[in-house]
Amino acid sequence: MPTSTGPSATPSDVVVVGGGIVGLAVAWRAADAGLAVTVLDPSPGDGATRAAAGMLAAVSEADFGERDLARLNLASAARWPAFAVDLAAATGRDVPLLRAGSLAVAYDADDLALLRRVLALHREWGLASAEVSVADARRREPYLGPRLAGAARVEGDLAVDPRGTHAALLEALTRAPGGTVVRRAAVRLERDAAGRVVAAHDAAGVRHAAGAVVLAAGAVPPAGLLDGVPEVRVPVRPVKGVTLRLDAGPGLALEHVVRGTVQGRPVYLVPRGPGTGAGPGSGPGHREIVVGATSEERPDDRRAEAGGVFALLRDARALVPGIDEAALVDVTPRARPATPDNLPLVGATAVPGLLAAVGHGRNGVLLAPLTADAVLAALTGTPPPDDALDTLTAADPRRFAPATPEGALP
Ligand code: GLY
Repeated sequence: MPTSTGPSATPSDVVVVGGGIVGLAVAWRAADAGLAVTVLDPSPGDGATRAAAGMLAAVSEADFGERDLARLNLASAARWPAFAVDLAAATGRDVPLLRAGSLAVAYDADDLALLRRVLALHREWGLASAEVSVADARRREPYLGPRLAGAARVEGDLAVDPRGTHAALLEALTRAPGGTVVRRAAVRLERDAAGRVVAAHDAAGVRHAAGAVVLAAGAVPPAGLLDGVPEVRVPVRPVKGVTLRLDAGPGLALEHVVRGTVQGRPVYLVPRGPGTGAGPGSGPGHREIVVGATSEERPDDRRAEAGGVFALLRDARALVPGIDEAALVDVTPRARPATPDNLPLVGATAVPGLLAAVGHGRNGVLLAPLTADAVLAALTGTPPPDDALDTLTAADPRRFAPATPEGALP
């Protein structure tokens, strides 16, 4: 493979391509373990991380046909409390987890039938959730609207602020002795005569030699980046979503994540703690509430269509009418990096020296700690975390071989 004649950066043990929450979690854990790590990203955290609401909802996200994903999510959710504590210790920044749990609510009778099917799935998989009366749900969360057909509680679900976590990860990484962030895109991978990936080249032509390169580039890997590794297939596609941030005044102290379906349409509201509002007049009594999310098989065009925003607000308001008084302060359209089987690609690829930490779909924030542990194990040649061994096998990037293109039905 051709090598660069351009300038070379100081070699690293690891180059991570992509500085979203997954890439930075990998990079920080690796730097914390003593490796020299360089992250290449022109705009770290400006992909799916920017839109993410931060639900760490292993149980609420469990869905039909996604048993392996549910197991991965559970293994990563269990890591989040320690991950947040370590990150806070590394930076002096608070990384608070919302621990009140989720309330799953149904707007009408059909929504309740769907909720009960999901609760039956939880029972089958041994996940903790329980149907409660609407009156009970309203006692727990007085801001729930008057017209609901049913409710359930999921006490194990957590939530975190992805933007705050990302800022903390960036700080932790740059404080770590071997951590470097280069705000340029990776555009090409370099291989040696034996075929091993030995460097990434950035958009300014700088060569970043590394013992290994980790692809964590989200929904849209830089064009041409993977041209030199035809043995590796990364079938990631963008699934566009829009989230909204509301600045709720002191009168709307929502305490639970509220998830629901409104006439079949999913919607969620994720509150932060007091003092997190960003709008005019925000202060100690204000709270951010994230409302999400649309979901469309569309490219990352960064457009927030009025109809999608309207529908989110209409449905969120059906569950929590008090948002009428909140200020709409942020509208963020981004794409989730989705894979054909909704499982991420985590670990070694078919090409030596190239690892993947990509394709986390709806669960990038939730799966960041487990992904970081798994990739660090692969980088250091230590066994993968044994509580997630089987499920990490399901996330093996090599399951998508170039010889079996998606869509080639017999
Ligand atoms: N994690 C929820 C979503 O992607 O909308």
